[in-house]
Amino acid sequence: MLDKINSLLSEISSFTVKNQEELELYRLKYLSKKGLIPGLFEEFRNVPPTDKKNIGQSLNMLKQTALDKYNSLKAELESVSDVSGISDLTRPSYPWELGSRHPISIVRNEIISIFEKIGFVVSEGPEIEDDDHVFTKLNFAPEHPARDMQDTFYVSRISPDESNPGDILLRTHTSSVQVRVMQSQKPPIRTISPGRVFRNEAISARAHCIFHQVEGLYIDENVSFADLKQTLLFFAREMYGKNTKIRLRPSYFPFTEPSGEMDVSCTICGGKGCNVCKYTGWLEVLGCGMVHPAVLEACDIDSRKYTGFAFGMGIERPAMLKYQVNDLRLYFENDIRFLGQFKTAF
Ligand code: DAH
Repeated sequence: MLDKINSLLSEISSFTVKNQEELELYRLKYLSKKGLIPGLFEEFRNVPPTDKKNIGQSLNMLKQTALDKYNSLKAELESVSDVSGISDLTRPSYPWELGSRHPISIVRNEIISIFEKIGFVVSEGPEIEDDDHVFTKLNFAPEHPARDMQDTFYVSRISPDESNPGDILLRTHTSSVQVRVMQSQKPPIRTISPGRVFRNEAISARAHCIFHQVEGLYIDENVSFADLKQTLLFFAREMYGKNTKIRLRPSYFPFTEPSGEMDVSCTICGGKGCNVCKYTGWLEVLGCGMVHPAVLEACDIDSRKYTGFAFGMGIERPAMLKYQVNDLRLYFENDIRFLGQFKTAF
């Protein structure tokens, strides 16, 4: 009898079921009135008194094991999502928590959609770039300070020659995408290039070694500074509201001539003066200018036939203004309590 008990124990422990019918077969086979275990209890009556204690214990253990197994198989079936295993089809489904967009993505998409309305097309370039696309073709002099290790993350340093484009580095601005677009497309070009950029800065609330920019480029015959101003005014009004004013201040970039910086009337105080605009009434939003003829020529575009304008802006600052975020590091920490606050339709 002990042998029978042991063989049933091992049978039961390896038993599996796929559905309710198989579970019922299990119950009938082992546990029901006419099942094997009650059968053994019948036989137990005839066991000689000297063996009763020993065999009785094993038999009780078998019965308990079979019951436990039945309950665990039943629970297993109830937890599977297979329709055949669901006992209550009216139960509400699990609440799926929807994700939200990163604030930088929201502002980037907003900027892109404004320029798409006036015919700009998105283009992208690599984050790991070469010296040629980040500096040389953009008319940076060989000794320009931006090429310094203090400012730029270098991946490997190689002297440029005919066969290679020089150092490999993390791009410090998205202006490198201008060069790639001009090398691969013919004018008219109207493109906008969002992306991540990298600078060797100490991380603080106001500076980070990674941030985001959007670059714009427009090249065609007869493109003038007036076109640049009108495009930027359109952008500023779409982005910051229709009463927004802009002003252009002269500036310097190696790849544009003339160059400017654009301010918009403060989005917080409307130009009256507050602590966000440091009581000037203006916020600096982007750099811009007419593409330097040397840049067009370096990209094989005839600078006597074509002219163009370019502009570049950061994404973090407008996002900080829009959402009143006061620490840049929050954008990069991926803390769900921060990210969950930005709900949008797109
Ligand atoms: N690349 C510049 C920067 O990172 C921004 C910029 C300024 C881009 C003027 C332009 C431009 O295209 O014309 O600060």
